[in-house]
Amino acid sequence: MRGRFIVFEGIDGAGKSTQISLLKEKLEKEGRKVFLTAEPTMSVTGGILRDALSGNYERSASEFAAMFLADRIFHNVNPKCGINQALEKGFDVISDRYYYSSFAYQGMDSDIEWVMDMNLNCPDIRKPDLCIFLDLDAQSSKSRIDNNRATVEIFEQTEILNKIRNKFFDVFDRLENENIKIIDASKSVAEVSAKISDVVNELKEDLN
Ligand code: TYD
Repeated sequence: MRGRFIVFEGIDGAGKSTQISLLKEKLEKEGRKVFLTAEPTMSVTGGILRDALSGNYERSASEFAAMFLADRIFHNVNPKCGINQALEKGFDVISDRYYYSSFAYQGMDSDIEWVMDMNLNCPDIRKPDLCIFLDLDAQSSKSRIDNNRATVEIFEQTEILNKIRNKFFDVFDRLENENIKIIDASKSVAEVSAKISDVVNELKEDLN
C-alpha cells in the first residue's frame, strides 16, 4: 500500500517547519513511516533557485517558474530521494511547499495560467492527497521571520507577503478537484497541530 502525499503551504513565516516536525512525530508514534522533503530540492536546479531566492542572482518570474518546474519533476521521479519512490515504499511523504507555491509566487509576475498549466498537465508531477495551507497575516509572518532568521529572502517583505497570501487564495479558488485545507496559523502551536491531525486523519488509506 502506498503512503499518503501531504503538502504544507503558507507564506514565509507561517510556521510550516514547526508543524511539519510535529506531524512527523505524531504519525511515527502511530507506527507510520514518514519521509520529509521540501522545495526547492537538493538538485542542481534547486541550488540555482536558492541562489536566486537569496537575491544573489536576479532571475525573471518566468525563469523561476521554469526552474521550479524542472526541480519539481526531479522531486517526483528521482529514484533515490524522490516522492514516488518513497510513496511506493509505504512512507507518508510530507513536502514543505509544492506547485501551489509556484502558482502564488510566480503567478504574481508571470502568466499564472501558463504556470498552472505546465505543472498540472505535466505527467511527472503528482497531485497531492492533501494540501494544508497555514494561514497567517503578513504582519505576524514578518515578525516571526525577523525573530527567527539571520538572512531575509527576496519574498519576505510585509507588502509582498500580503500580496502572496492573497494570491494563494486566488489560486485555491481556481483549483477544482484538489483537497486543500486552510488552517488558521495564528493560534497556538498545539491548537494548530491538533487541527492538522484532524485533517490528516480524514485521509483515506486505500490510495493508488
Ligand atoms: P525556503 O528557504 O524553503 O523558505 P521557507 O522555509 O519559507 O519555505 O524558500 C522557499 C522560497 O521559495 C519561498 O520564498 C517561496 C519560494 N518558492 C517559489 O517562489 N516558488 C515555488 O514554486 C516554490 C516551491 C517556492
